[in-house]
Amino acid sequence: MPTEPDILRALAAVRDPDLHRDIVALGFIKDLAVAGGVVSFRVELTTPACPVKDQLKEEAERAVAALPGVTRVVVTMDAKVSGPDPASRKGMLPGVRHIVPVASGKGGVGKSTVSANLAVALARSGARVGLLDLDVYGPSIPAIMGIVEPPQVAGDRLVPVVAHGVTVMSMAFFMKPDEATIWRGPMLHKVVEQFLTQVEWGELDYLLVDFPPGTGDIQLSLCQMMPLTGAAIVSTPQDVALNVASKAITMFERLRTPVLGLIENMSYFICPHCDQREDIFGHGGARAAAAARNLPFLGEIPLATPVRQSGDAGVPMTAAAPETPLAKAFYGAARALAAQVSIRTAAGADPAIAVTF
Ligand SMILES: Nc1ncnc2c1ncn2[C@@H]1O[C@H](COP(=O)(O)OP(=O)(O)O)[C@@H](O)[C@H]1O
Ligand SMILES: [Mg+2]
Repeated sequence: MPTEPDILRALAAVRDPDLHRDIVALGFIKDLAVAGGVVSFRVELTTPACPVKDQLKEEAERAVAALPGVTRVVVTMDAKVSGPDPASRKGMLPGVRHIVPVASGKGGVGKSTVSANLAVALARSGARVGLLDLDVYGPSIPAIMGIVEPPQVAGDRLVPVVAHGVTVMSMAFFMKPDEATIWRGPMLHKVVEQFLTQVEWGELDYLLVDFPPGTGDIQLSLCQMMPLTGAAIVSTPQDVALNVASKAITMFERLRTPVLGLIENMSYFICPHCDQREDIFGHGGARAAAAARNLPFLGEIPLATPVRQSGDAGVPMTAAAPETPLAKAFYGAARALAAQVSIRTAAGADPAIAVTF
């Protein structure tokens, strides 16, 4: 019969490729039990959206099954997202593990579409996800997420709306058309503060923030108000070519907010009639720009009519047709983003861990 130390020794051969340590040293193995030849344990990952979840499960199973006397291995995959010390946020958002802005150098690159799909993908992977729409110039998250009812007010607190499994709050709920143009820095700062202090966000693993395009007051306010885990930058291939995305990256660097990676949206076009691929704006620019800046590349999303249609219909692709290649592109980017959050967190907790960017 294998003993617990035997089993742990076997499991120590399984390494998390993102965190560069074995799953025993990382403390992932829980509830290890041996009954006759049956070995059971739980693998507790740092995110339910782990890109190598299936791989780790398989390797753990195989490593233990190879031990003499083992007849069956029962592995349960689980996850617990840990975050920075909530005290670092001065009492704001105590239940939120990670705040992750989604930003772009300019408007119209699909930032809101990508934010909504990333949020839904993370939620459907099992994470607790919030989406805060801070785009004063064109708040579109309620439309993309199909929200028609405004949030409820409970005393002096706002109760966010839950759509497609995501807890949503948006500037759109409080704006009259054309109001944005007259807002100034201090007003915007106040609004950001209210969204952080008066909204019942509850317990969240990830709070994605749809920033306004560019590098303005809202970005400055949020980055200065509390530490953010890091930003995802959305750009089109053309946008990268024109150096627009660089401005957003430089802004985050100045504000000491890490950039978790780049997502190339409208990366290429698949003709719905002939299935021919067309690189309308060029392709691969964001991947190259990420490599040049030593930043992670999180994925490419094709330009495709169903992405727009699903957004217009209020049901993001990731919820409307999760099994399609299009939705899978978003799921892949969401997993890559979650992995970068985990890498950052592990690096913060233990500086000895090498960070791969
Ligand atoms: N990958 C894509 N394929 C097709 N249409 C897209 C894609 N990404 C975004 N769109 C569409 O482009 C328009 C702008 O997207 P949006 O997310 O509002 O951009 P932003 O928030 O950057 O201004 C919307 O009509 C949206 O449906
Ligand atoms: Mg937008």
